[in-house]
Amino acid sequence: MLPLILGIETSCDETAAAVVRAGRDVLSNTVYSQIATHLAYGGVVPELASREHLRTIAPVVREAVHDAHLTYPDLDAIAVTQGPGLAGALLVGICFAKALAASLDKPLIAVNHIEGHIHAVLLELAHAGAAVDYPLLALVVSGGHTHLFLVEQHSAASTLAYDYRLLGRTLDDAAGEAFDKVAKLLGLPYPGGPAIDRLAPLGNPKAVPFALSQVKSKIYREPRPDSDQIFFSFSGIKTAVLRYVEVQGMRERIEARRRADPADCDQQPLALIAPFQSAVVNDLISKTLRAAEAHPVRGILVSGGVAANSQLRREFERRSPLPVYFPSRALSTDNAAMIAAAAYPKFLRSDFAPLDFTADANLKLGVALPKSGVSEVR
Ligand code: KG4
Ligand code: ZN
Repeated sequence: MLPLILGIETSCDETAAAVVRAGRDVLSNTVYSQIATHLAYGGVVPELASREHLRTIAPVVREAVHDAHLTYPDLDAIAVTQGPGLAGALLVGICFAKALAASLDKPLIAVNHIEGHIHAVLLELAHAGAAVDYPLLALVVSGGHTHLFLVEQHSAASTLAYDYRLLGRTLDDAAGEAFDKVAKLLGLPYPGGPAIDRLAPLGNPKAVPFALSQVKSKIYREPRPDSDQIFFSFSGIKTAVLRYVEVQGMRERIEARRRADPADCDQQPLALIAPFQSAVVNDLISKTLRAAEAHPVRGILVSGGVAANSQLRREFERRSPLPVYFPSRALSTDNAAMIAAAAYPKFLRSDFAPLDFTADANLKLGVALPKSGVSEVR
C-alpha cells in the first residue's frame, strides 16, 4: 500500500489540510482562507490569524480526510508546518497535529514551509510522470520569502532525499510583500498580488520609468565561481512608488477610490501598476537566469504565491533557455498538499519529529554559501 500522509498548514492566513498519496497523488486539498478576516486591516493581523486557525482547524482537517474517502486510521503519518511563519498561527497546527498523531499512534513529520513550496511543484511533476533532471534552481517567491536555492535530489532504491543550498535571498521585503504594500498604497484590496496582476495588463509598462536600478542589485563575488550570493531588494521600488504617489498628488483620489469601489482604478494608479509589476518581474527573472548561468542546473522551478503572477509565468517561459516548472495556481499559494508532499521523503527515511518539537517562526532552509556573512543552516 502506498503511504497516505495528512498534511496540516497554518503558518500564515490559510488554514489548510490535505491528504497526499506517495508524495504525488492529491486525494484532497482543503484550504480555508482568512482573507475576509484581514481585509479590513489591509494585511494579516497575527492574533486574529491564530484565533481563526483555532476556530477552523478541526473542520478543515475533518473535511480533508472525508474528501479523500478515508478514515483517520487509514492515514500513515501526520505532517505539519514547523516554520517559518507566525509563531501563534504555527502553534495551532502543530498542537493539533501532535494530538492527532498521539491519539492515532501515527508518526509525526515536521516540514519547513519553504521546502513545502518547492514540493508543490515536484508533487505535480511526479503526478504527471514527468522526468525531471537535477540539479534544479528553485525560486521561492511569496508574501514572506524571496529565496533562490540550488536543489539536488538523491534517490536510492527506497529512499529519497533533497539538498538545498541557498544561493540568494531578499535583503528587505519579500516580493509578495512588495506587491501587497504597493497595492495598499494604491487603495487596492488585500492581498495585493492578485489585484496588481489583474490590473497590470490594462496599463503601459513604460508609462513610469521605474528602472531596474531601483530594485537594488548586489552580487558579491568570491574567488570560487560557485560562491556568488544573489541579493534581491524591493524596498527601493516601494519607496519610488510612494514618492510618485506623493509628487503626483494622488493621495486624495486614492482615498476616494478606496471608499468607493476598490477595483475601480483611475488612470494614474494604472500608470503605476504595469511598470511596477514589470520591474519586479524583470528583476526576479534576470537574477534567476544569471544564477542559472553560474551553476550547472538542468531546470528552473518557481513557486510561492507570486508564482501565480501571469506576467512572471509568461516572461519566464519566454526568456529561459531551460525548462521552467510552475505549480498550478491552486498550489502556488499556501496549501497543505505541498506539506504532505514534502513530508514523503522524510517518511521514507523515518525522519520523524519528537512529540516535544515546537514552532520555529524563523526556520531556515538550506546551507548558505560562505560569502553572505550569514550562516543559514537548516
Ligand atoms: O505563498 P503565499 O500564499 O503565502 C506566503 O507564504 O507568504 O503567498 C502570498 C503572497 C501574497 O503576498 C500575495 O500578494 C502574493 O503571494 N500573490 C501574488 C499573486 N497571487 C498571490 N503576487 C503576484 N501575482 C499574483 N497573481
Ligand atoms: Zn507560503
